[in-house]
Amino acid sequence: MSDDAEGNPGKLSFPEGFIWGTATSSHQVEGDNHLNDWWAWEQAPGHIEDASTSGLAANWWQMAEQDLAIAAELGQNGHRLSLEWSRLQPARDAWDERAVERYRQILGFMRERGLEPMITLHHFTLPLWVREAGGWANEQIVPLFVEFTRRAVDALGDLCHLWCTINEPMVYIAMGCVFGVWPPGRGGLRASGPMLRHMVRAHADAYHLIHRIQSQAQVGYAKHVRLFDPADPARWADRRAAGLVDYLFNEAALRAFDDGVVPPPFGRALRRNRAEHLVDFLGLNYYSREMVAFDPRRKDEMYVHRFANPASPFSMEGWGEIYPEGLYRALKRLAAYEVPLYVTEFGIPDNTDSQRPRFIVEHVAAIHRAIQEGVPVKGAFFWSLVDNFEWAAGWSARFGLIGLDPQTQERTVRQSAGIYGRIAASNGLERGLVAEVAPDLLPTLFSGAASG
Ligand code: BGC
Repeated sequence: MSDDAEGNPGKLSFPEGFIWGTATSSHQVEGDNHLNDWWAWEQAPGHIEDASTSGLAANWWQMAEQDLAIAAELGQNGHRLSLEWSRLQPARDAWDERAVERYRQILGFMRERGLEPMITLHHFTLPLWVREAGGWANEQIVPLFVEFTRRAVDALGDLCHLWCTINEPMVYIAMGCVFGVWPPGRGGLRASGPMLRHMVRAHADAYHLIHRIQSQAQVGYAKHVRLFDPADPARWADRRAAGLVDYLFNEAALRAFDDGVVPPPFGRALRRNRAEHLVDFLGLNYYSREMVAFDPRRKDEMYVHRFANPASPFSMEGWGEIYPEGLYRALKRLAAYEVPLYVTEFGIPDNTDSQRPRFIVEHVAAIHRAIQEGVPVKGAFFWSLVDNFEWAAGWSARFGLIGLDPQTQERTVRQSAGIYGRIAASNGLERGLVAEVAPDLLPTLFSGAASG
């Protein structure tokens, strides 16, 4: 694994045309939009950890170009962003051409600067009028989402061919109804089945529709894969508990979005219908792993105790283990679906940028290792380009390569931005960079290299 394609022992090279980008989502960066359910949610006391609101966010509705220009200057060649449904369709019978124009400007700017766009159609937020109609709990959302997709692809399809229908369906369901700490904030476990079924149908219909409108489109979705390992692998009950959590959070949705058949307990269908194939690529959002132990005292949590491995380094309090091997393992797992893969998110909350440089190097090396073993990874989008509104954590957790003061809108390009940029510009991980950032990794990453 130490030589690149030209036999250069000083670099871990990536395939030609590999996309090195960053990811953002509309509500987290655009700012000042009162038309969606997240805005309403933020206004209620107690919902946001640091009692903040998204406010102007990173003010992308006015100046996305400022950060995107930095991304391009730093050597990146892609960006994943999402469309704000509530801006484009503020009411059932309204369609805002000015919002279309603004997205056309942003996408046009990206193309001009060599940033290949990937568009996400749904990244956690819903227009207020869709929420009022029941949101994802009501099957009526399926035709509404499909209609929105049709209008969006008609309006923007000439500027984009990589479409991601839904971001992290299981995170949405877990946070929104099982734990109730995000909108809609209710529903419990019982609501998770209908929600997942509606999301899968919306994805399936959007998948076919986008292909009808745009022959060269590539359509997928972004799955947050978390690793769940038994706390004690020798203990049968821990292995069963880890398997159960993995099935509910990872496996069931992976299967459902692949062939449209939602398995129990979310759906009733047991038999898979391989004739239907609903992804041209899979997007992997990877952050961390959890250890899982069977715990007879935790009746309300399915007798499961989940925790960060105490033996590993971890990011900010409460955010979990730093586990780059998990990215490699998740990519190997997704390879079974036999479609191209994109890492649609990987990132770390790190307000001081002290862990991010090493995090980037270790995770890029993990992607390289998977590619060396034949996994078809086509690109990676770091989360995130600029500090943004971190949902229920508000402004307390910063994920950006570019630091942001949300009050003054002042930017600081962090050290990690330069590091990611150097990887992007050379389309690989150079020995010299590893020597600077994480010299202890040299023997593992460049074992065959005498020099370089
Ligand atoms: C989401 C992002 C979020 C990030 C960091 C992902 O689950 O897609 O919207 O900001 O994680 O928590």
